[in-house]
Amino acid sequence: MSEQHPILAAAPHSTAAYRDAIAQSSEAVVQWLQQPEMYQGKSVAALRDRIELAFTAGGLGNAAAIERAVEFFLKDSLSVHHPQCVAHLHCPSLVISQAAEVLINATNQSMDSWDQSPSATLMEMKLIAWLRERAGFAAGDAGVFTSGGTQSNLMGLMLARDAFFARQGHSVQQDGLTGDLRKLTVFCSEQAHFSVQKNMALLGLGYRSVTQVKCDAVGRMDVADLTAKLAQARDNGDRVLAIVATAGTTDAGAIDPLREIASLAQQHQIWLHVDAAWGGALLLSAQYRHLLDGLDQVDSITLDFHKQFFQTISCGAFLLKDARHYELMRYQAAYLNSEFDEAQGVPNLVSKSLQTTRRFDALKLWMGLEALGEERYAAIIDHGVNLAQQVAAWIAHQPALELVMTPQLASVLFRYRPTDFTGDHAALGLLNQHIGDALLDAGRANVGVTEQRGVTCLKMTLLNPTVTLEDIQRLLALVISTGEGLPR
Ligand SMILES: Cc1ncc(COP(=O)(O)O)c(C=O)c1O
Repeated sequence: MSEQHPILAAAPHSTAAYRDAIAQSSEAVVQWLQQPEMYQGKSVAALRDRIELAFTAGGLGNAAAIERAVEFFLKDSLSVHHPQCVAHLHCPSLVISQAAEVLINATNQSMDSWDQSPSATLMEMKLIAWLRERAGFAAGDAGVFTSGGTQSNLMGLMLARDAFFARQGHSVQQDGLTGDLRKLTVFCSEQAHFSVQKNMALLGLGYRSVTQVKCDAVGRMDVADLTAKLAQARDNGDRVLAIVATAGTTDAGAIDPLREIASLAQQHQIWLHVDAAWGGALLLSAQYRHLLDGLDQVDSITLDFHKQFFQTISCGAFLLKDARHYELMRYQAAYLNSEFDEAQGVPNLVSKSLQTTRRFDALKLWMGLEALGEERYAAIIDHGVNLAQQVAAWIAHQPALELVMTPQLASVLFRYRPTDFTGDHAALGLLNQHIGDALLDAGRANVGVTEQRGVTCLKMTLLNPTVTLEDIQRLLALVISTGEGLPR
């Protein structure tokens, strides 16, 4: 039987239903956490056949809907907390982040205007101010929480584009793009995240507007190539809107030489955006903060807390060095962020965001920082980086494995390469691809498959702070035995 009044409110039947639904759901999660498998190993076809929506005339009621979610969703979810779930920058989450979600969801504040999220608006602004300080930016609160790295990168690229046009006296916001658009370009390394390309297409300039700069042997932007390409662009009459540096490339975790790139960007008066979606975690690191040297010299920064900050999805931020650039995206809506409000100093964060309705995801980081404190947060971040180094050292002594690149953050790129392998480069790549697929199909492990410098290899992203070297040695033994069992 469905509830008569399904809305969360003060009425006793509502709060009782809320308690029951939350208790049933959290108990189901506790049960799910006990599942030994990383994944039940169902194929696409098997899952597709199993899953169906039951939208009935009378409704099933909360308890039955939760039971069905357990059956169709939870049981066949990937266990992101499992030690053998290492394919992506996809973190297990903090317990406190779960508690924050309860508060965020129940209150359903919307961050677009003060009158929809009063305390939340101020907490987000204070957290942005704190993050700015950590990054080395001047005091202020220019920045906003975002859905993640892709959106933060979009904000950086959009403001860079519009600031470029504004310097020529043209408002893209008012009048759209103008001039010979084929002359416009942004620079990033060949290892930068694909959201640079996607965002440039979205910004009306296409994938072709992205100029890729070469990387060195460990995947960092090659400053000599950047210098040469900037000179070439000037000679061609190309107009460089932005340089995007990466602090933590998706596969290798490479951090571009930020200080040197910042000095070139300043020299050429080019906007420098840093995609620190992954490496931004080092802002909290005890051992590795120095790797972000130069971050204070840039115009805008992407941070992502649903990576190595261990927050639930989604939770990201965008930091803007000079608050005046926010004028480039201001839109005054009488019902949300009126001039009247703003003249009285009422903060409506819609003015700083591409989104309108927006979750209070900042609470997760806020509560995480308070609950863990500086030392514990640093320890769980540093664990992954240290573990990657230990794993790499171990792999170097395994005859059937080959390290493909020296780890920089918490990822290890390697491949299975038995000593008696006689096939060619492509066959070895395919064998590694098949190992990755076989492990997931069997529900045993999720190991990434990627390509680095033309080599198809496997990737472990070792974010999980509860995982040990022994866990990874077991996983690698599984990689080897899986490889041995496959046809060559
Ligand atoms: C370097 C980098 N930037 C941006 C992103 C995109 O972040 P999101 O998935 O939060 O949009 C990723 C995702 O892995 C990334 O690795």
